[in-house]
Amino acid sequence: MTKEINIGLLGFGVVGSGVAKILTEHQTDLQYKLGVPVHIKKVVVRDVNKKRDTDLPKELFTDSLEEVLSDDSIDLIVEVMGGTGFAKEAMERALQSGKGVVTANKDVMAEAGPELLKIADEKGVDLFFEASVGGGIPLIRTLEDGLASDRIHALTGIVNGTTNFMLTKMKEENMSYDEALALATELGFAEADPTADVDGLDAARKMVILASLAFSTEVQLDDVYVRGMREIKDGDVELAERFGYTVKLAGAAKKDENGIEVSVEPVFVPDEHPLASVNNEFNAVYVYGDAVGETMFYGPGAGSLPTATSVTGDIVAACRNLLLGVNGKRKHAPQYDRKMKTDDQKFASYFHRILVKDEVGVLTHLTSLYTNRQASLATVIQQAKDDNDRAELVFITHSISRQQHLDIMEDLKNADSVVDVISYYRVEGEN
Ligand code: NDP
Ligand code: HSE
Repeated sequence: MTKEINIGLLGFGVVGSGVAKILTEHQTDLQYKLGVPVHIKKVVVRDVNKKRDTDLPKELFTDSLEEVLSDDSIDLIVEVMGGTGFAKEAMERALQSGKGVVTANKDVMAEAGPELLKIADEKGVDLFFEASVGGGIPLIRTLEDGLASDRIHALTGIVNGTTNFMLTKMKEENMSYDEALALATELGFAEADPTADVDGLDAARKMVILASLAFSTEVQLDDVYVRGMREIKDGDVELAERFGYTVKLAGAAKKDENGIEVSVEPVFVPDEHPLASVNNEFNAVYVYGDAVGETMFYGPGAGSLPTATSVTGDIVAACRNLLLGVNGKRKHAPQYDRKMKTDDQKFASYFHRILVKDEVGVLTHLTSLYTNRQASLATVIQQAKDDNDRAELVFITHSISRQQHLDIMEDLKNADSVVDVISYYRVEGEN
């Protein structure tokens, strides 16, 4: 009978220090739940001499992965370093050597998840990754267990804390983009390279993980249509407000008889939709199942202790399996071949914001570009006029395909009367 469980912690930054704090401060409760103590036996960091605010003895810290992987008394590896190369190698070597792995690393799970899960299955060890999506929200386990009997046909929501935090601060406290990003970084929400947050890559990786699980298929990063928050132009937030919408960087994964579509982009969400009031670093994900209908999962999407809660939840699950001797008993192989939709199979309404020369006949001409593409318009509005005889027009379409939208964008860019296509938005959350 195991007397204790020993952990090798790889990384002691925002998340790793949170994991250590929870394991230390909640040790009595964890011991009650598991029947044995859980100890951190070693911590791998880049710089062992860095000053750290922790009660863990200094001797636990090492910069040698080898030292941890070769320690037979270590049962479980917790990878919270981030990045792909070294982190993936560490996880792969841990699994190959028969140690279970818990990770918060969406970069690795989105790019090499199936490969690593296969190794875990072959070696009969666990690979858990709850914290890779939604910070403290138990979303992965909900998809794998709670909703296991249902057929999920859509997931939509906010899956990046940094950008949601930035959009909130820019809107409500008039912070500049740079100020908001600096604060998100200081609070530990942003990735080591925050362009992954602002350019939508972090959210895209999370959507790959969610869509693959929800639709039991291997969605790939290249399948995701990605636009980041730098696509949001001055005046767009006010434009959205004027029409009763809020701008959010949202992920969406939808499946129907034609296949799957996955996207991450700034969208207009109706103000009355609950996603519009998800603020700061909070995330919210709607999951739509054939049987369950609509469900919503909400909580902190980033930050030390919320994320560490998901990591330690995985540690508890892996420890329970270790104590029962049933690790690696889950079936991860996807049920369906990957079939992605083409752009003429994806439908939504769009806002197009266009700067035009203010001359006779412009409106009629531009409206005809929509008609030529069989796109029906809900509204056309002249927003503002400037001193250079230029006017801003906003076209709001009824539901059209992404292909129609792209064709119209091209037609607009080629039209003599168009100075600039300022921005465009898909509408999300409207029936
Ligand atoms: P940090 O940058 O705060 O911490 C990274 C830690 O890993 C540091 O302790 C660092 O050592 C160590 N490390 C990095 N590279 C190496 C290396 N090559 N060898 C040894 N040690 C290394 O990252 P976070 O804690 O913010 O993020 C960790 C993971 O969790 C990432 O995958 C991230 O995407 C994910 N995540 C983060 C969330 C958050 O809110 N921050 C939320 C959800 C997931 P040293 O201290 O010496 O520099
Ligand atoms: N940088 C990520 C975010 C961390 O802001 O959502 C949580 O995955």
